[in-house]
Parts: sequence; C-alpha cells; structure tokens
Amino acid sequence: MVARGTVARGTVARGTVAITWGLALALGSGLGLGCGDDGQARETNDTTTPTSGGTEGSATDSGATDPSADGTATDTAETSDTSQAQRPNWHEDIAPFVAQSCRGCHTAGSVAPFPMDDYEQTWPLAAAMLLQIDAAAMPPWHAIETDECSPPNGFKHDPRLTPEQIEMMHAWVDLGMPEGDPANAVPVPEPPSTDLADPTATDFMQGSIDVQPEGPVLDFFHCLSLDPGNGEEVFVDGMQVIPGNDAIAHHVLVYIDIDGASAAWPDGQRLDCGGGTGGISNVRLVGAWVPGSLPMEPPEGVGIRLPAGARILLNMHYHAAVTGPETDGGTGIALRWTTTPPQYVSDFRLIGVPGVDGSLTTAPFFIPAGATDHVEEVEFSVPTVGGADVRIWSILNHMHKVGVDMKVSVMRGGEELCLVQTPAYDYNWQRIYEYDADVGDTFRVQAGDVVRVRCTYDNTLDNPSVVEALQEVGLDQPQDVQLGEGTLDEMCITGVGVAIGP
Ligand code: HEC
Repeated sequence: MVARGTVARGTVARGTVAITWGLALALGSGLGLGCGDDGQARETNDTTTPTSGGTEGSATDSGATDPSADGTATDTAETSDTSQAQRPNWHEDIAPFVAQSCRGCHTAGSVAPFPMDDYEQTWPLAAAMLLQIDAAAMPPWHAIETDECSPPNGFKHDPRLTPEQIEMMHAWVDLGMPEGDPANAVPVPEPPSTDLADPTATDFMQGSIDVQPEGPVLDFFHCLSLDPGNGEEVFVDGMQVIPGNDAIAHHVLVYIDIDGASAAWPDGQRLDCGGGTGGISNVRLVGAWVPGSLPMEPPEGVGIRLPAGARILLNMHYHAAVTGPETDGGTGIALRWTTTPPQYVSDFRLIGVPGVDGSLTTAPFFIPAGATDHVEEVEFSVPTVGGADVRIWSILNHMHKVGVDMKVSVMRGGEELCLVQTPAYDYNWQRIYEYDADVGDTFRVQAGDVVRVRCTYDNTLDNPSVVEALQEVGLDQPQDVQLGEGTLDEMCITGVGVAIGP
C-alpha cells in the first residue's frame, strides 16, 4: 500500500535527518533547531501530492515529533512499495530547482557546507533545508519587500524560491523524500555561469595567503591590490571576482583605488586590514561578491569610470576551513571595458556615516552595550542635478556586525520612496543589488530629493553576529560601539551606483 510505504519511508528519513542536524550543530552552524517543531508547524498534506492518496500525512508528521523513535522502521522501508511514483519526487520535481537555487554554492569544494550534487547527498538534508527555506535564510538574499519598503524595480539575480517551489519542498519532505524513477528524470539545469563573458583584462593576486583557524577565530580580512592595466581612462561594463580558493572565500568588497596608492603595498597585499581599505582613502566601493555571485553588469549604455593608473582593491573575507589550513594562491578580477564613453557614466556615492558627505544630520553616533532596536538615521540632500538625467541603478547596504536592519529611502514632497531594505541584515552577505530594469526605467534622482538612511542595531548577545565579533577579539560581553572601521566599530552607509546621462 502506498500509504504504509509512505509512513515508513518518512520515519526512516526523519531519523537520519536528526543525525544530519547533529552534524550541522557540530559544525557550529547556529541552526536554531526546534526538535522537529518546525516540521510540525505546518500541515502540508495538501493538493500538491497528487499520487499519494492524501491521508497519510498526519502519520508522517507524528513521526517527526519523536526523532528518537526511528531506526526500527528500516526494514519496512526497504520493502515498501516504490513502484508507483510519488510526486513530488527528486528526479521529476526537486532536483531542477535545487540545482538552480542551491547548487551554485552547495557543491563539492565550496565554502557552503553540504554538497547537494545528487539525491544521495541531498535527501538527508531535507529537513534542515526546509528550516532554512522557511526562515528565508536560504538561498541567502537580503533585499526584501516589507510593509515599509517596495523598491522601484525588482533586482537582478534574485535567487529566491517561488511559493510553488517552497510548497513542493514541504510536500516532498512530508512524503519522506521519495527519489522517484531515474528513468523519468527531467533535465537538470546547470547553475548559471559565474564567468564574465568576453573580459578585456584579468589580473590575479601576487603571492599567496594562508588561512587557518586560530582558536575560535575563523574569519580573516586581508586586502589585495590588483592592476587592471588600463593605460587610459576606460568605462567598465562587466566585472567579476574570481576566487582563488572556494573553500575559504566568503565575501569580497571591490573598490577602485583612484590614485593607485595601493600599488605601494609589498606583494600587493595588506594583511589584517579589517573591514576597511587598508588606509587608502581615495576609493570608490564598486562591487561586492559572495559565493555564487554572477558578474556585475550595469544596464546597457552605462559604464563605470576607471581612471588611468587606478588599481582594484579587494577586501577579502576569508572563512577558515575547520578541517585545517588552506591557501589562496590565485584570487583575481576580470573586467570588461570600452574606451568610448557610454551614454551614462556611473559613479558610486557613499551616503551615511562615518561622514562621507557634508549635509548629514546626526547626533553623535553611539550604540551602548546592551542596546536593542537602537536606531541611527542620517539624511543627505541631493545637490542640484542640473539638466542631467541621474539614475540609481544599484545599491549596497553596509553596516558591521551589530547592525540588524537597514533601509534607504528618498523623501520627495512629503512622500517616502523606498530604494531598498535589508531587514535581516547580515554582514557576511553584503551584495550590490542591481535593479532589474533598463537605465531609463530606473529611479530618477531630482533636485531637492533627500536621501534618508536608517540603520537599526542590536548590541546584545541575542545577536549572533555580535557574539561572533566579540569572540574574534576574545571578549564575551557586549561593548559600547562607536563609528569606525574595526570589528567592534559600526557604520551606517549605503553605496549607490549613480548613472549620469544626457
Ligand atoms: C550564495 C550561496 C548559497 C546558496 C545559493 C545557498 N546556500 Fe545554503 N549555505 C551557504 C553557506 C555559505 C552556508 C554556511 C552558513 C553561512 O555562511 O551562512 C550555507 C548553509 C546552509 C545550511 C546550513 C545552515 C546552518 O546554519 O547550518 C542549509 C540547510 C542550507 N544552506 C540550505 C540551502 C538551500 C536549501 C539552498 C537552496 C534553496 C541554499 N542553501 C542555497 C551558501 C548558499
């Protein structure tokens, strides 16, 4: 009987998942496990499981309440009736979207734990996957529509699952993660290519950098100076970071070092440069990379000015592998550019604190130890734009480890127009969010606009990033936080890609 087979498979599977959860915890992953509560919280025994009969879901769920009561059902499972294909199953339903939405990172050799390259690797992770999916924590994506923010356009490369895919994932778990028949497998899409098409120039780091855990400290920040090699001013229309070692490359901030001052660094390296730019001040923050990031390509007709003699400065965040030392011997950057000026030339402006612009209004920035829901808000009045067509085509939110929510809006005639909000801000997942629109359809800046940047902080041990940051410097209690570049300092800055056209 289909129903009995389902129950048995479900029970066995969940027992194994419990083991996987143990593994996740052992890796110090911070998964908030509710002992199966999450599995129970939602009854998904619904219409998405056409061949399953629809009445066995409750029995499956009761298995979830007691992960310790597993194991005994193994024999039943092995003899269960699998001849009638259950839907959804791996080969026909689940594999394609796991490939598209998860495997860009969860593949062998990546910084993401647990490869999901095939059924055998993936089914034991199903319950943990569901927890992360329901919490909107995976795939990682932080620019989210909220009650107080509807950005003017969608964003490019948005990897979030559709409601139908989430529903299907629930149904699959409720059925006990059936594999289905490989003969019916639908084609699995390759994850989108992370290579920049037709690069003009590629430069790689000099020397190498060793990264190994130091006690509880797994995170290291080193700066690299790369030479784009443009002999004249050029306009970049494509850019991609090429990580030298996927196992440790966690995130990268990309700056243009306008004067090329970092060329003076021995071996092009500045070790332990924190979250900053290693003392180089005339810089533009132009990009951010996280595992799986696709190349940054401004809209048609927009190019990023790269002066002659400028360098590319990478702030590398390495996350050490718990398994031991690793070496980065080859991080680089690929750039594609034209020498003819495009219709719109892009600049990047930082707006916020520390004071990068004159017209900010803010009381002294200070986040006391123990503060929750602490808000710092700054404003910036847009100077006259003249007759130019000024557009915002990309945006990046930047705080450090105490920050939990950030919103950027434009105030215009009493109205608030929200550009982006990152309500579950995570220092480790900073991205440049590129609006998914032609440049002529992106947000147009007007004289008199006031940009408002609101940052919210949680400076308590309830904030896992605070715990992590304190650990890094050998402390265990929250500290008063001020403005600055260090691990325990904070910022409240948005980086705006501004295209200036005719
Ligand atoms: C952009 C890269 C990326 C993508 C895409 C991605 N993950 Fe992850 N995932 C990670 C990284 C890195 C970690 C390790 C934890 C961290 O650094 O946040 C992780 C951790 C996890 C964990 C363990 C969480 C924990 O705290 O232990 C699960 C489960 C997971 N991912 C599921 C998924 C699922 C399901 C998808 C697709 C729907 C997905 N991930 C897509 C990068 C990614």
